[in-house]
Amino acid sequence: MHEYSEHLVLGQPPRKFERYLTSAEIQRAVKETGLRINERFAGEEPVFVGVLTGCFMYMADIVRASYLSCTIDFIKLSSYGDGMESGRVRLIKDIDCDIRDRHVIVVDDIVDTGNSWDFLKRFLMVRNPKSLSMAACFRKPKSVQTGVEVDFISIDLPDEFVIGYGLDYAGQGRHLPDLYILSGEETK
Ligand code: IMP
Ligand code: MG
Repeated sequence: MHEYSEHLVLGQPPRKFERYLTSAEIQRAVKETGLRINERFAGEEPVFVGVLTGCFMYMADIVRASYLSCTIDFIKLSSYGDGMESGRVRLIKDIDCDIRDRHVIVVDDIVDTGNSWDFLKRFLMVRNPKSLSMAACFRKPKSVQTGVEVDFISIDLPDEFVIGYGLDYAGQGRHLPDLYILSGEETK
């Protein structure tokens, strides 16, 4: 039986992380969010638009937890900034499907400043969807303080850097089923 450890050191420069939420805790919250999405869109066939790359685990779980027939599509953004800062947002890959008159649910791993969601709202609204909402697995306090509205949030986090469940540090850690938080200790 393989197990993921409670403490990890990864990335460049190397950083220490410690387990913060288990996969079971995440799954419980995601299932509840899926049911809320189901209630909101019952009888509809929405388009789920995953924001690559971080969305990949949450996207797979949330579409199954929502029990809705749906269209799956992906968009990719890039923000200028280093491994731990979010910066200005730029489009790398557009969606392929036509969202006119469709209910669109953007699915992202985490909302930090809300810049990505602001960009996506402006970018997708001009295509006249029937509705546009957002689901994010995690949310940090910054976006709450600045009044950014997100329709479906599974878990609120403190203002700390996290990895796992799709989220990376310098390209590493996305595969981890649990969520890890940056540890205050220096690596040595
Ligand atoms: P925002 O545009 O500031 O809301 O940031 C959203 C994006 O920044 C997310 O989709 C992530 O890709 C990335 N991000 C924000 N916080 C973290 C974190 O703690 N760990 C890993 N990536 C993060
Ligand atoms: Mg992202």
